Amino acid sequence: MKHWLVGSLLIGVVAAGVAAAWLSGALPGRFAADPDRFRSPTGEVAATPQRPGDPDEGYRALVNEPYVNCGMPYEAYRRIAPKTDPADLLPGREGRNAELPYFMTAHVNADGVEVVSNNCLVCHAARIDDEIVVGLGNAFDNFTIDPRRLVTEVGRYVRGPERSAAWQHWADRIEAIAPHIQTETIGMNPATNLSWALMTHRDPQTMAWSETPLLDPPPERPVPLRTPPWWWMGKKNAMFYTTIGRGDHSRYMLFASLLCADSVEELQEIDAYAADIRAFLEGLAPPAFPWDVDEELAQEGKAVFEANCSNCHGTYGETPSYPNRVIPLDRIGTDPLYAQTMTDGTLDRFYEWVERSPHGGTVRAAPAEGYIAPPLDGIWAVAPYLHNGSVPSLQSLLDSSLRPRFWRHAEPPVYDPEKGGWRHEVLETGKGAAEDREMRARIYDTTLPGYANGGHLYGDDLSDRERAAILEYLKTL
Ligand code: HEC
Ligand code: HEC
Repeated sequence: MKHWLVGSLLIGVVAAGVAAAWLSGALPGRFAADPDRFRSPTGEVAATPQRPGDPDEGYRALVNEPYVNCGMPYEAYRRIAPKTDPADLLPGREGRNAELPYFMTAHVNADGVEVVSNNCLVCHAARIDDEIVVGLGNAFDNFTIDPRRLVTEVGRYVRGPERSAAWQHWADRIEAIAPHIQTETIGMNPATNLSWALMTHRDPQTMAWSETPLLDPPPERPVPLRTPPWWWMGKKNAMFYTTIGRGDHSRYMLFASLLCADSVEELQEIDAYAADIRAFLEGLAPPAFPWDVDEELAQEGKAVFEANCSNCHGTYGETPSYPNRVIPLDRIGTDPLYAQTMTDGTLDRFYEWVERSPHGGTVRAAPAEGYIAPPLDGIWAVAPYLHNGSVPSLQSLLDSSLRPRFWRHAEPPVYDPEKGGWRHEVLETGKGAAEDREMRARIYDTTLPGYANGGHLYGDDLSDRERAAILEYLKTL
């Protein structure tokens, strides 16, 4: 049995050796064939049939099942975690989960060790005014800190061989992905890079974990992304901003389990409730705007919206429609880096991994060179806006002259019902001038690669009155 500290030092040495191997080109590039199968055209996305599921069973599975089935031993977690805030408890949680915050799930592993791990809700739920909104992307998640710090801290409280083994299993995974999942800005989410990093270490056919990478790793710096809300999936025919997620959504969305599922059997166990989870999250309703709305102005906004925006974003109300359109980069004009990175060929080895995995027959990784015009249901809650979260409010989304070059969220978070978004401060300078690491992480700097706030100028030609009316209308969706 390796002591945990020795274990992590050894991993460090192995990792350094592997890095040298990549540099010398020692890993064979296996991928050759027709890359077109990993691309989608821009324009309308066609629907694919989805496996039916039971939404109630899906919620139960989402908040109770260990689809991320490695983590920290419960006793060690208790030593480092603050007392659970009662506002973080969710209904319908069973056993130990009933006392854990909504973003953690506990289960007992094969060695009889109780372990706790993050679940989907760490990124896909957030509080607004002390209410947990399941499905809302958390705009304040902090991925700027090296996760290995937590692993080491937890390790100090791990006792006994079984618990040490459980900790080590989790520590090994984090060690492998840590270099690829640190973001520069609070609120920006590294999930895409996280998936690629895991595929780097897993055999797609057996799901066996390999300490040494099997593919060239993804870039170290994740492209900045804001987490989208789940309730849009009820209307979307493909998953993700670039519509890369084609085919069976339930299987694609559970790729988060790649962190720990070490065999095809484990993947199948998770797949047994995946369709239920899909049914739950595609049936979610957006939260209603909790402050007053000027109904007359909103009604006026509806007409302006339908004349200027519905072509891409659809219509709302009694007979809703949604066109599922991907707008090419040169037309939408928002930051191109994400869609370019996904389609320039540099990530095709991961799309091939998906193709070769047990889900390969039913899911396909095929991004388009553009961004989906999303449904706007519950858009008031989804700030900051655009795929990279570069625009802090609906007001500035509708009038590009108001978009700040440098800004940061107010702390603690307060929603601003006038502007439509989290209250923020406009700053004079960007990250370069920040006094320390913590401040640097809080600053949203639109001059950095991937962070640009231009494009989507559809509100600019409207009058002030029309913009105010659309803003009011958007609060009602
Ligand atoms: C580390 C944070 C993180 C975790 C954990 C996570 N996600 Fe996500 N999720 C994201 C981000 C970021 C995106 C947007 C990526 C993109 O569009 O390219 C996303 C996108 C999605 C989407 C597509 C939404 C859309 O409108 O296209 C679904 C569905 C989804 N996640 C489901 C899940 C489920 C189910 C789990 C748990 C098994 C999960 N996610 C775990 C961060 C996360
Ligand atoms: C030509 C198609 C098109 C038109 C017209 C259009 N949009 Fe969009 N819209 C998009 C696309 C594409 C995105 C996503 C861009 C991105 O994330 O980089 C988007 C994003 C948005 C967002 C932010 C969504 C998010 O994920 O944060 C809002 C709000 C929005 N549009 C509102 C409007 C309004 C209001 C109008 C009319 C004044 C409008 N749009 C007109 C295509 C369009």
